[in-house]
Amino acid sequence: MATTPEAGIAERDYFTDHAVLLDPYDYFESLRARGAVTQMPGSDVLIVTGFAEAVEVLLNTRDFSSWLNPDPLAPLPFEPEGDDISAQLAAHPSGEMELLVSYDGNRHAAARSLLNPLFTPSRLRANGEFMRGYAEDMVRGLVERGGCELVAEVATPFVTMVIADLLGVPAQDREAFRALIDSAPPPGNMDAADDGQSIHPLLAMAGYFARYIAERRAVPQDDVMTEMALARYPDGSTPDAMEVVKSAMFLFAAGQDTSAKLIGNALRRLAEDQPLQQRLREDRSLIGPFLEEVLRIEGSTKATFRIASRRTTLAGVEIPAGQRLVISLAAANRDPRRWDEPERFVIGRPRIKEHVAFGRGAHTCAGAPLARAEVSVLLDRLLEQTRSITLDEEHHGPAEARRIAYEPSYIIRGLAALHLKLE
Ligand code: HEM
Repeated sequence: MATTPEAGIAERDYFTDHAVLLDPYDYFESLRARGAVTQMPGSDVLIVTGFAEAVEVLLNTRDFSSWLNPDPLAPLPFEPEGDDISAQLAAHPSGEMELLVSYDGNRHAAARSLLNPLFTPSRLRANGEFMRGYAEDMVRGLVERGGCELVAEVATPFVTMVIADLLGVPAQDREAFRALIDSAPPPGNMDAADDGQSIHPLLAMAGYFARYIAERRAVPQDDVMTEMALARYPDGSTPDAMEVVKSAMFLFAAGQDTSAKLIGNALRRLAEDQPLQQRLREDRSLIGPFLEEVLRIEGSTKATFRIASRRTTLAGVEIPAGQRLVISLAAANRDPRRWDEPERFVIGRPRIKEHVAFGRGAHTCAGAPLARAEVSVLLDRLLEQTRSITLDEEHHGPAEARRIAYEPSYIIRGLAALHLKLE
C-alpha cells in the first residue's frame, strides 16, 4: 500500500538531504504530483519522474547530452551561448576523467565498440563458468559459518572478481583490484564526496590496464585483453591506448556497486518475505522474473543525468539549451501511468523487461546481461544451499523495528550492510 508522503518533503534537496538520500521514493512521488517533468525545488535542475518522458529523453541523444554524467552538479566550464550548445559541450571535457557514460554521438559509439570483445557469447559463457564456480565455493563457506554481512563480505568481492575475470585480469593482480575497489565509496555518496578520494582507485587501476594494454600491443597473447588491445574503431582506425584503458576500467566503476547493491536489495526482499523465498527455492526458474521485478521496484541505480544540448520541449515544458535534468529511473519504474499498482511487488508482470533500471537507448547498460547473470547465479546458489535465509536481528532489530541503513547516494540505491543468517 502506498504511504502518505510527509508534508513538505518535495521542498527538500535531493542531493544533500539525508532523509531523501536514504529513502527517495516519497520524494519522487511528491514531485510526480507536480508533473512528470518538474523543477527540483531550490535548484535550477529539472527532474523527470514519468516513464514515457524518461524514455523520451534517454532516446533523444540529439537534444540531450550525457556530458553531465556522473556529476549532475558539475559547473559548466563555459558560458552557454544560444539555443545549441552541442559544439561547446563537445569542445570541453566533462571532468578530469571523462568516461564512456559521458560521451556523446560518434565518439560514444566508437568508445563503446571497444567493449565488444568482452560481450561475445563465448566470452560470457566462459565468464558464466567462472561465476558459478566462485559463487558455489563462496556460498558453501558462508553456510558453514551460518551467516554473513552480505554487501561487503560477499556481493562486493563476488562482482569485482566477475568483472576481473571478464576482462582477463591476471590472477596475481586480482586481490590488488579488490582492495582498490573496496577503498572507493559508492558513486554519488554525499558523505564521501568531499574527501577528494573517490577517483583515486580508478586512477590506480588505470595504471594496471595501461601496462596490460601496452604489453599486449607489443606482444599479443591469446587472451581477451589482447583482443581489447588490438580492437579497432568501426571506421578501422586504431584507438589511443588510453581510450582502451578507460573503457576497461569503467566497467569496474559502472558494474561494481550497481551489481553489489542489487544483490543486497534482492536478498533483503527474500529475507523479509519467507513465503516468496520458499517459492523461489522450490522453483528456481522464478529467479529471473523475481530479479526483473526487484530491478523495477528497487533497482540499484536511482538516477542518471542529462544536459539539454539544444533548446527543446519535454512534456510541454520548455527546455533551454544548458538545462540540467535528473532522469529518475526509480520514479519512472514506479510511474502509475505505466505500471499497475506500482508499489506492489508482483512476479510475472507483462513486459516487465521494459523497466528502465538499466537505462535505454544508446547508453543502455552494456553490462546488463552480466549483471542479470551474476545476481541470478548467486541467488541460485544461496537458495539451493540453504533451508532458510533470514535477517540477523542482532544487527537489524526485530521485524516491527528494523534498523536498515542505505547508502546516502543520489545515484545508487542500495544497502550499506545486510547481515543474514543462513540455515
Ligand atoms: C544491477 C546492476 C547494474 C545496473 C542497475 C546498471 C545500470 C546502468 C544504467 C542505468 C546505465 C545507463 C546510464 C545512462 O544512460 O546514462 C548503465 C550504463 C553502463 N553500465 Fe551498467 N548497470 C549495472 C551493472 C553493470 C555491469 C555489471 C557492467 C559491466 C561489467 C555495467 C557496465 C555499464 C557500462 C559500460 C555503461 C555505459 C554504457 C554507455 O554509456 O554506453 N553495468 N548501467
